[in-house]
Amino acid sequence: MGQNTLARDFMMQKLNDRQIALLKQTFIDFQQTSEFLKTPLVVDKAQGLYYWDSEGKKYFDAIGGIYVAVLGHCHPRLIEALTQQAEKITLAPPLHGTSNVTLDFVEKLAAITPGNLNYVKPFSGGSEAVESAIKFVRQYFKQTGHPNKYKFITRYLGYHGATFGAMAASGTGKRKTKFEPQMAGFLKLFPPTHYRDRFSSWEECNRFSARMFEDIIIHEDPDTVAGVIIEPIGNIGGMITPTDEYFTILRDICDRYNVILIFDEVITGFAKTGAMFAAQAFGVTPDIICCGKGVSSGMIPLGAMVAREDMADAFYGSASDGIEFAHGHTFAGNPLSCAVGIAVIDEIVEKRLDQKARELGAYLAEKLEGLKSYGVIREVRGKGVLRGVELVKDTASMQPYPELGEAMKLCALKNGLIMRVDPTWFAVAPPLIADKADIDFMCELIEKSLSDALAMVR
Ligand SMILES: Cc1ncc(COP(=O)(O)O)c(C=O)c1O
Repeated sequence: MGQNTLARDFMMQKLNDRQIALLKQTFIDFQQTSEFLKTPLVVDKAQGLYYWDSEGKKYFDAIGGIYVAVLGHCHPRLIEALTQQAEKITLAPPLHGTSNVTLDFVEKLAAITPGNLNYVKPFSGGSEAVESAIKFVRQYFKQTGHPNKYKFITRYLGYHGATFGAMAASGTGKRKTKFEPQMAGFLKLFPPTHYRDRFSSWEECNRFSARMFEDIIIHEDPDTVAGVIIEPIGNIGGMITPTDEYFTILRDICDRYNVILIFDEVITGFAKTGAMFAAQAFGVTPDIICCGKGVSSGMIPLGAMVAREDMADAFYGSASDGIEFAHGHTFAGNPLSCAVGIAVIDEIVEKRLDQKARELGAYLAEKLEGLKSYGVIREVRGKGVLRGVELVKDTASMQPYPELGEAMKLCALKNGLIMRVDPTWFAVAPPLIADKADIDFMCELIEKSLSDALAMVR
């Protein structure tokens, strides 16, 4: 059955002529508008765990927007922080100063990051944070006696943002080739899932995959390699979750070759994994963390790069040195965004939402494991409430099943469920205001969508 027929049969959201005309005046991210119009989603209202579309239909938001709303939508504490700040100061361009609330945010974020990651540069989202980390590391090596260190090693299936540097770091194939040539100096290797069938154990596969970083560094010439950029849990690829040892090996390699280890925690940050950052969940301390998404729970654009304090020292001198960080954005450290960021961190810390993510995550994982009885699930991966489920044709062949994912996407929308479907895997990251009953409800919707989808494709 073709998608057109499916969409018609499913009676997706009906848009009026004005909405359709306006959708043709804009773009949906990474999607063809004509395809989007077949199964559109135009939302009007969001509260807590739910969205409502413009026809009034209610959807359970199993993915917190898109790994963003860790405190659910429109959390009252964040609305209060935002409105109180709006009455005080809303703009302090970082070109000629900063605001007290921005400094408070710097202090707050530094306090929850691991190790001596105390240098904080706030931005307006994940791509900006990654882009700035790339520039920060290159400039750092230029002014610390290693001017030839400029290359970054990243992974296929990694996504680090849509801007040019972050895109060059990403391993997302066709999403990138439209814009070639890419920025030079980005080398790629595969995440452990790529090799898993060649090893008798996941642990051994992870050891092999982690050691590949060293092979690349040696063969590229360690004097030219500046950094490794990696998502601790890889979203594209369906929540690729390495072993703790993978990161221990990688940390050791980076130390031995003076290579900066950058964790892109834009998805994994802010308690979803059961720790404030995935770095803490895996027991490893990177040199830089890039964050975004959950730091504002979606109330307002916010992101940040957090770096080792001693790296930042290399940018501190006199005006004549020319070693100031040559980077900036008008809205970086915006007072409104920072006020919300502070409130998000306070709420997570005070309510121990990291602990809640561990407990709720274990419960969720068990329920998702239960779906294996359908015979089309290879693995349930992830940590805490951040979970991905890999779909296969059958567990004997383990062949991917994109048709099932495509059908599941439609069935989920029909059933009032919003989640990420790629289509060889699906993922959820329910906001941490959810309780067990909400997880039960969400899993019922997932199971119904899976069984409806199977009925369609079989
Ligand atoms: C891991 C990761 N890094 C970076 C980004 C880019 O963040 P933004 O879309 O806020 O620019 C994303 C966005 O999805 C992401 O998932």
